[in-house]
Amino acid sequence: MLHISDNVESLITSVAEFFIAQCNEAIQRNGKFTVALSGGSSPKQLHTLLASEKYRNRLPWEKIYFFFGDERFVPADDAQSNYRMARETLFDTLKISADHVFAVNTTLQPAEAALAYEQTIRKHFGNGCRFDLIILGLGGDSHTASLFPHTEVLKERKALVKEVFVKEVNQFRITFTAPLINEANAIAFLTYGASKAEAVQHILKDQFYPEQYPAQLIRPLSGKVHWFLDKEAASKVV
Ligand code: 6PG
Repeated sequence: MLHISDNVESLITSVAEFFIAQCNEAIQRNGKFTVALSGGSSPKQLHTLLASEKYRNRLPWEKIYFFFGDERFVPADDAQSNYRMARETLFDTLKISADHVFAVNTTLQPAEAALAYEQTIRKHFGNGCRFDLIILGLGGDSHTASLFPHTEVLKERKALVKEVFVKEVNQFRITFTAPLINEANAIAFLTYGASKAEAVQHILKDQFYPEQYPAQLIRPLSGKVHWFLDKEAASKVV
């Protein structure tokens, strides 16, 4: 489903409203809301808005559990850490308790960190690892989470979390795999800016070629994919 906004401000507002709706539905369903946040820069404004005076009282933060769809393999206080970005833009402001935030343990070796994170996810859910909401970004090269073009992890069908060395950024990443993402109840891509228009077209319009356009792998089994785009990012698909 496409949600196209005139500008970034109204886009972020519509994602915030969607987040609240998904949260309320999840709490109705199972008494809590388990969400995986995206990394990168796009989600910063969403976090800031959710933590603002205008929104913070509209969410039962004590019933929300936070995971990360991917993480850069850097220390938790590194400027590149997705956990640090979320801590600074969301958790600190709202004083979210540490037992509601599940960060990747990047003090381990990459493969161990991936295994440990998978175990953490399995423990949280008990049976079935079905996130209520997974927020994803889209890279200009059509990657999402840390599912980058021409990497082994794109073929992963069993593991829920994998380590991957990403040449483009010369860095190990820990990432949800496509099977885990596709288990989700709802998936929201948050993508804006002209620089993403071509990638959006590759994902939504072009032939199925996930080796080159990994975000094409995101096809939930029973959940729904929502694309929250501004006009610039949607310019090649509408
Ligand atoms: C990461 C993200 C990655 C991101 C895209 C878009 O760790 O970087 O998970 O998949 O969502 O690269 O990044 P921007 O929002 O910064 O354009």
